[in-house]
Amino acid sequence: MPSERSTYDLVIAANRLPVDRVTADDGTVEIRRSPGGLVTAMESVMRDHDGAWVGWAGETGDAPEPFDDGGIHLHPVGLSAEDVAFYYEGFSNDTLWPIYHDVIVPASFHRDWWQAYQRVNQRFAEAVAALAAPGATVWVHDYQLQLVPAMLRRLRPDVRIGWFDHIPFPPVELFAQLPWRSQLLEGLLGADFLGFQRQADARNFVRACRQLLQARTKRDLVHVEGSSRTVRAAAIPISVDFKGLERLAKQPEVMARSAQIRESLGNPKVLMLGVDRLDYTKGIRHRLKAYEELLVEGRFSPPDVTLVQVATPSRERVGAYRTLRGEIEQTVGRINGEYSRIGAPAVHYLHHSYPREEMAALFQAADVMLVTPLRDGMNLVAKEYVTCRHDLGGALVLSEFTGAWHELHQAFACNPHDIEGLKQAMVRAVNTPAKDRQRIMQALRRRVSDHDVQRWAARYLAALRSAPDRPRLEQVA
Ligand code: ADP
Ligand code: G6P
Repeated sequence: MPSERSTYDLVIAANRLPVDRVTADDGTVEIRRSPGGLVTAMESVMRDHDGAWVGWAGETGDAPEPFDDGGIHLHPVGLSAEDVAFYYEGFSNDTLWPIYHDVIVPASFHRDWWQAYQRVNQRFAEAVAALAAPGATVWVHDYQLQLVPAMLRRLRPDVRIGWFDHIPFPPVELFAQLPWRSQLLEGLLGADFLGFQRQADARNFVRACRQLLQARTKRDLVHVEGSSRTVRAAAIPISVDFKGLERLAKQPEVMARSAQIRESLGNPKVLMLGVDRLDYTKGIRHRLKAYEELLVEGRFSPPDVTLVQVATPSRERVGAYRTLRGEIEQTVGRINGEYSRIGAPAVHYLHHSYPREEMAALFQAADVMLVTPLRDGMNLVAKEYVTCRHDLGGALVLSEFTGAWHELHQAFACNPHDIEGLKQAMVRAVNTPAKDRQRIMQALRRRVSDHDVQRWAARYLAALRSAPDRPRLEQVA
């Protein structure tokens, strides 16, 4: 066991560590990569920085000892069974997540969930306070830890505190439903700099401060009442490790695996792909409906066209996720019952996690990538897909309700609520001449390669260093 240094100049706090510890019944411990875009992005950033990562290791009970993984120092925070039920599944994912994603499903409000949220945020703040060197930089992540900035400032006024919102920040009309709206805003205002995926998210936050806290605001600045502090809220959209992922996608084994995937699917003329956590925000039902209608109308038919849907298990004890899984699996069963032939299923449904190499091979194998969320802070899958298409093949169908769409305008845009429009986008993605598709792919790839995750982290840290002023140009990569 490597001994833990006492303090770090850079400490990040996120609900999850980049890896989950999974203890089997026989006591053996397996380390698995955690799900989601936050981990994908921050893991590649932290490999280039010397720092510590404070987070939950994914099991209930006491925190395991600090450990190193992939060159990153990991400091676990323990969550009891009640913390998991109330703070993680409850307040984070059944109160905040629906409110921050347009209330696609109703949000639940429970006072004991809020108590747990405060308690766990305090635990994170204390863990960070103990690890941060004098004057350190602390980078807090996402909706699970919105109280940490103010709690940490009380414990450690010497450190520089940033927070980044990986998901949307809701319009004030929705945010105002939260009984604890003022406390959440005050928690965030403990930071020196707040980063968001889109300008609209940053504006929603500033407007919420103005309307709900009567805070004085000017453009992207919020004055903190009763202090001389001003907090800046600005958009710095997250991205992927373009170079690293492209390198992986160019490996001969990955390319061979991609050909093998197509082969084992019967070399369809058109392979469509969806890759999402099994989450109601991702628009998987809308995508399946559009696909089913195209089959009914005879515009698509297997084995010429087939769909692979990877639906990563997620938050399986939260009611709305269980309901969604039932609906998706019933729909896939119905479509396959009606339209599959022996050896040629209409939908290949995979409810598993895969290694990165396999994901890169899948992206390369897919002619059309379907990214159809009803609301998504960014959607890294869209950026990963174009990164893997160094051959300039493939086409991206992209929902206007993702952060990614604000950067990837050239994609085949869709409004997933408009099933006819979604069908048209899918058909256009298939029928557009290869030369035009290549031109589009080139433009998409240029955007992602120029704005990769390393640049995102450099811009974020420069903005945090210079907050509340705007960073000078030379501070930004
Ligand atoms: P979210 O963070 O909401 O899950 P993103 O699209 O931003 O959505 O990020 C998802 C991340 O998880 C991506 O890096 C994607 O490659 C990865 N991922 C999704 N599904 C799987 C899977 N089944 N196996 C391995 N990685 C997956
Ligand atoms: C999204 C959130 C992350 C979260 C991830 C996976 O990316 O922004 O904060 O970690 O989903 O969700 P989970 O609940 O499994 O951590």
